Formats: sequence, C-alpha cells, structure tokens
Amino acid sequence: MQITLKLFRYNPEAGRTKPSYDIFTIEVDPTDRILDLLEEIKAYHDPTLSFRRSCAHGVCGSDAMRINGRNRLACKTLVKDLNNDTIVVEPILGMRVIKDFIVDMDPFFDSYKSILPYFVNNQKPEDGKEYIQSIEQREKFDNTTKCILCAACTTSCPSFWSNDQYVGPAAIVNAHRFIFDSRDQAAGERLEILNQQSGVWRCRTAFNCTEACPREIHVTEAIAEVKNAILRGKP
Ligand code: SF4
Ligand code: F3S
Ligand code: FES
Repeated sequence: MQITLKLFRYNPEAGRTKPSYDIFTIEVDPTDRILDLLEEIKAYHDPTLSFRRSCAHGVCGSDAMRINGRNRLACKTLVKDLNNDTIVVEPILGMRVIKDFIVDMDPFFDSYKSILPYFVNNQKPEDGKEYIQSIEQREKFDNTTKCILCAACTTSCPSFWSNDQYVGPAAIVNAHRFIFDSRDQAAGERLEILNQQSGVWRCRTAFNCTEACPREIHVTEAIAEVKNAILRGKP
C-alpha cells in the first residue's frame, strides 16, 4: 500500500529555523512500524532527518513521538494501527525542540531526579542477607515498576502544557514505585516533595497520561494513590 508521510521538520543548524513539514509518499506494508518508515526516509530520501531510537522494541523509551495527534512509541506503532493513509509525525509537546523529533529531555529528567527515584534504606536486613517482602506488599507497586521513562504521559498532560513547573505524571509514577515499597524508608520525604506547589495537586485527573502510556501503567490511579497517601500522612 501507499501512504503519505507528513513529517515535522526543524533544524536550525541546517538553516531550517522555522518549523515546517516535509511530505513523502512511500510504499509500505501494513505491518511496518512507524520507526521503519522513519529509517527508510533517513536512509533513502533525507539523511538529515533526526530522531532518537535505541532498542526498537519498546524497552528503552527513546522514541516517543506524536503520531497522528497522539503520543506513541514509533517502534511499537504499526501502519495498520493508524488506519489512515496519511501519517503525521511530530515531536512530543511541551518540550523545547532541538531538531526534528529530538526534544530537550533535561527538564523531564530533572523532575524525575527530584522525587528521589532510588531505594533508600540505611538499616541492614534482619537476617543480614535480604529485605523480606510479601507477595501482597510487592503487588502494591508492581504496575509502576514498568515505566520506561519515555515521557509520553507527561507530554500529553494539559496541566504540564500550561505549567512546565509541574513535576508531571512520569515523575509521580516513579515516586509511587518507591513510596509503596515496604522496604523503602524515604516515603515521607517523597510525599513532602509531591505535596509542594509543583507536585501532585497540579494533576486535574485528565487521564491523557493513562491513555498515552505504552506500558499500560495505571498512571492516573497511581497519582490518586499518592494524593491519598499525602492526605493520610503515610503510604
Ligand atoms: Fe512512559 Fe508510561 Fe513511564 Fe509515562 S508512565 S514515562 S508514558 S512508560
Ligand atoms: Fe495530567 Fe494525567 Fe493528571 S494527564 S492532569 S497527570 S491524570
Ligand atoms: Fe526503544 Fe522505541 S526505540 S522504545
């Protein structure tokens, strides 16, 4: 089948200082991934086309893009999923565009780092070997361990678009992963951070984050659990 690809372009180094779109018409298979199409354009039509990718299998989180108006991973989206013979690819919203689909991820990772996204426990395990955790305790945060930090959630959130000081759903998901881990000791500190002006209360339950997440994480539910933990004063 033939499709029309409409690709966002911005490349100040190459004199493209104003955002615009390039249009390509190419032959594709319905089972081709959008990442395959971008690779083809780069290899055979325009080597300056720039985008991030690494694993090509939905694991590294580097190729989140806005595809036909919705945040998705280019490597996990098939032509047939879109059901459209025109495919528009744009960078994720709310971040500074550096070049084509490459955006500045530094503020995103600064927000991530601000919630202490690591295990904190300065006590030795009782048996000197391991921290014991029941199956039920582990289940409390199982869903939020699946995050690949692709930013599809944060950059689809209207609260983040209107105020980029909002820490964003991805940071909250990663805070949730540790707040509800029975072995961790820094839940109180994380809840305090997320109770600030830039924290969870900026979430207006829009659900865009949950719809955008390629890992099917229950993002809005995780945010609600963190809000409740703040109100209770404990996880
Ligand atoms: Fe990506 Fe989902 Fe993690 Fe958000 S919660 S960064 S959408 S994997
Ligand atoms: Fe934004 Fe998700 Fe809340 S889209 S407003 S973080 S439910
Ligand atoms: Fe790694 Fe798509 S290239 S998630």
